[in-house]
Amino acid sequence: MDVLIVGSGGREHAIATAVKKSSKVDKIYCAPGNGGIAGIAECVDITAMEFEKLADFAEQKKIGLTIIGMDDPLVGGVVDVFEKRGLRVFGPRKNAAIIEGSKAFSKDLMKKYGIPTAAYENFNDADQALAYLDTVSAPIVVKASGLALGKGVLICQTIDEAKDAVRSIMIDKQFGDAGAEIVIEEFLTGREVSVLCYCDGTHIKPMTSAQDHKRAKDGDQGLNTGGMGTFSPSPFYDDEVKRFCEEKVYQPTMDAMKAEGRDFTGILFVGLILTPDGPKVLEYNARFGDPEAQVVLPRMKNDIIDVMEACIDGKLDTVDLQFEDNAAVCVVLASDGYPEHYEKGKEIHGLEAFEGKDDYFVFHAGTKKDGDKILTNGGRVLGVTALGADLKTARANAYKATEWIDFSNKYMRHDIGKALDEV
Ligand code: AMP
Ligand code: GLY
Repeated sequence: MDVLIVGSGGREHAIATAVKKSSKVDKIYCAPGNGGIAGIAECVDITAMEFEKLADFAEQKKIGLTIIGMDDPLVGGVVDVFEKRGLRVFGPRKNAAIIEGSKAFSKDLMKKYGIPTAAYENFNDADQALAYLDTVSAPIVVKASGLALGKGVLICQTIDEAKDAVRSIMIDKQFGDAGAEIVIEEFLTGREVSVLCYCDGTHIKPMTSAQDHKRAKDGDQGLNTGGMGTFSPSPFYDDEVKRFCEEKVYQPTMDAMKAEGRDFTGILFVGLILTPDGPKVLEYNARFGDPEAQVVLPRMKNDIIDVMEACIDGKLDTVDLQFEDNAAVCVVLASDGYPEHYEKGKEIHGLEAFEGKDDYFVFHAGTKKDGDKILTNGGRVLGVTALGADLKTARANAYKATEWIDFSNKYMRHDIGKALDEV
């Protein structure tokens, strides 16, 4: 069959790489894609939010399966548009993608169904939020409820800081409509773990765990970003934590969505924090993580098309999901200045060093093709992933491979996976 992937980041490059390995797939298209994806798929000039155009394309090309990588189209209802036209598509419908699209919704869901999460209140009125802040203590977390490119969460060390956050989100509309409603929640401490799960509406199968590094600078300093690097598996996600999450988080979330008439099909990304009181859910996403996908998918043994089709057909219980007994580390190469101001259009050198090496991957995020050249075209430019027998080897391999790449404003964190030194 032919496959269409919707999105343009490192995540979509990792999905395309997994799809390319499938024996079921003839041709891959990607809308809109990027300079690296163009190496394995035909890029199509349709943006992720042009739902009818995407569906027209899928119809014309008789696409056997469309995979939606990004959150915005999912939350906007792209899957509903495809389904209405009888097209096969992988991802949650709009009424289920709300689990990512509205943090207020997901907090209420967790409260109603007893899924462990931080104590919180939702507000759609700034005065009420400000008055509430007089009744609680800092540190405290203020979150825009809607999609805000991963930047809508403000950790506030004082109540005054929290009040400023409320004003800037709700009155100055720092995140636009995403901040019309906010969540104010208890500050939690602990290791964070991301667990991405395949879901078919009824059954849920967690993949191997991963950990992201969200801050821009070494030592978890600087601004929050989309993610500066990942490793998989997380040694902190041990058997006990896993068992707890399987009993108290994953299946209960599936059951809760079903009970609400919002059957969830696709990828449920569970962002966990391992607190001294046990694991709690920080957030849900309705798609693969980026750059979590870049360390999880290269370790998956199954044919991704088989798993995705089982999800669509409600037969995930028949799939034996398997991962290699190895480790992966991804270091993001960004444009210096990300996530604020940075320059684009720099020529990238050294990409050919990855060719023919099975244990090394260079996933393109913000790149574009210009004749024979590949230029930087975004904040996060490339994700350099390496496999290894264990995490420390994978980390050494990944950092070695970052040296193969050169562009003039290349920036990366040097401590991806440093926490592993404590294990
Ligand atoms: P979210 O998008 O909700 O996952 O938040 C982004 C990041 O903010 C998380 O990965 C955490 O590092 C941090 N964060 C979110 N909520 C909390 C919380 N309640 N306590 C401490 N840190 C948090
Ligand atoms: N890396 C975090 C995310 O994809 O939301």
